Amino acid sequence: MDNDSSMEEQIMRKTWSGRFNEPVSALVERYTASVGFDYRLAQYDIQGSLAHAQMLAEQGIIGEQDWLSIQQGLGQIGEEIRNRQFAWSQQLEDVHLNIEKRLTHLVGDAGKRLHTGRSRNDQVATDIRLFLRASIDDIIDLTKAMQQALLDLAEQHVSTVMPGFTHLQVAQPVSFGHHLMAYFEMLKRDIGRLRDCRKRVNQLPLGAAALAGTSYPINRERVAQILGFDSVCENSLDAVSDRDFAIEFCACAALIMTHLSRMSEEIIIWMSPSFGFIQLADRFCTGSSIMPQKKNPDVPELVRGKTGRTNGHLVALLTLMKAQPLAYNKDNQEDKEPLFDTVDTLTDTLRIYADMLTGIRVNHDAMRQSALRGYATATDLADYLVKKGTPFRDAHEIVAKAVQYAEQKGCDLSNLELGELRQFSAHIDPDIFAVLTLEGSMKSRQHIGGTAPEQVQAAILRARQWLA
Ligand code: ARG
Repeated sequence: MDNDSSMEEQIMRKTWSGRFNEPVSALVERYTASVGFDYRLAQYDIQGSLAHAQMLAEQGIIGEQDWLSIQQGLGQIGEEIRNRQFAWSQQLEDVHLNIEKRLTHLVGDAGKRLHTGRSRNDQVATDIRLFLRASIDDIIDLTKAMQQALLDLAEQHVSTVMPGFTHLQVAQPVSFGHHLMAYFEMLKRDIGRLRDCRKRVNQLPLGAAALAGTSYPINRERVAQILGFDSVCENSLDAVSDRDFAIEFCACAALIMTHLSRMSEEIIIWMSPSFGFIQLADRFCTGSSIMPQKKNPDVPELVRGKTGRTNGHLVALLTLMKAQPLAYNKDNQEDKEPLFDTVDTLTDTLRIYADMLTGIRVNHDAMRQSALRGYATATDLADYLVKKGTPFRDAHEIVAKAVQYAEQKGCDLSNLELGELRQFSAHIDPDIFAVLTLEGSMKSRQHIGGTAPEQVQAAILRARQWLA
C-alpha cells in the first residue's frame, strides 16, 4: 500500500502525467528537461503570461479577481527569479512549468486558469521571439558602437598609406582609413539584415495554442499590441512550428562573425613581426609560457575560432528543422542552446572588438616600406602611359620590364632616374614622379568609393550621418 502511494506521488509530479502509468526514469527526466537552459527565458515567459492573462480577463474568459491574483503572483515570481531565490526544479521540466507551478502554489486556482486557451507550444515560440527581439536590438546597438570605433580609427588614418593586397600580394597603395571603412560597409549591411530579420521575429504566435487554435473567444491582436508585436502569425500550425526567424538570425550572426573573423585574420597578420603594421593594446594579447619574446593576438584568434561556433549553430538549426513534420515537435527544444550561444558569442565579440579597435597603434613606416617593396605603383605607371597614348596591354608589358629592372637594382620604381625609366618608354617625362609616389597613386583615385584621402574623408562623413 505504502509503495503504491509513493508511486502515485511520483506520477502526480508531472503536470501532464494524468494518463501515465509509470514515472519517467531519472535519465529520461534529465534528457527531456530544458530548464537547465531555458530558465533564461523566464522574464519573457512572465511578460507573455501577463499579456495572455490580461486578454483573458478583458475577454471575460477568466474573472477580474483571477487576473489580479495572476499579476500579483507573477510579479512575486519575477522578483524571486531576479533575486535568485527561485527554486528551479528539473522535475518540472522547463521554465514554463516551473513558473506555472509556483504561480499555482502562490495564488491557487487563478494560477491553474492561466493556461486557458494556450499551450506550451505557442508559449515557448512567443518567449523565444521576445528574447530574440531584445537581443537583436542590443546587437544592433553594439554593432553601431563598433562602427563608431572603426570610424574614429579610420579618421585618424585617412592619409596613412598601406599596401592594399590581392592574393595577399602587394597590389596598390591604399589609405588605411579606406581599408577600415570596408568593414564599416560590411557591418552596415549586417545591420540591414538584422533589421529585416527583426520584422519576422516580431510576430505573435500566442493564440495558436497546441497547433489548431483555441475555442475560447480570444483576442490575438490585443495580445500582440500589449507585447509590442507588429502582427500575429497568420497560421496556427506555422505559428507553433516556425523557427525560420531563429535560423535567419543565426545566419545574420554567422555573417557578422565571418566579417569579424576576416578582420581578425588581418589584425593577426598585421601584428606578426614579419609585417609589424600595428600593435594591439596589451590587454588583448597574452605571452607564451616558454618563449619570452612572444606577444600573441589571442583575442582576434579567438574571434576567428568562435566564428566556427556561430557558423556551426546555423547549420545545427537548419538540420534541426529539415525533416520535421508539422506542427510542433520536441526537436524544437534543441533550438535554444545554439540560439543563446550565438547571441552570447556575438554580443561578447562585438563588445570586445569596439574596445580593441580603440587600442590599435599603427606603425606608419612599416606600412610604407611594405608598399614600397611590393611595387605598389606599377599600375599607376601603366595608367600614366595609357594617358599618353600607349595601349594598355603594351603599357602593362613596358611596366613589367621596368619592375624587373628595379627588382634587379633592389629599389622601388620611384627611385629610378628619369633616364633609366625612359629606356622603357620615351613617353615618360619628369611628371612621372608625382604618379610613382605612394601618395600620388592614392590621391589619383578620386571618385566615390576610391582611396583618395578626400574621398575617404567624405565616406567617413557619410558614414557618420548614417550612424546618427
Ligand atoms: N520545453 C519545450 C520547448 O522548448 C516547451 C514546449 C513543450 N511542448 C510540448 N508539447 N512538450 O520546446
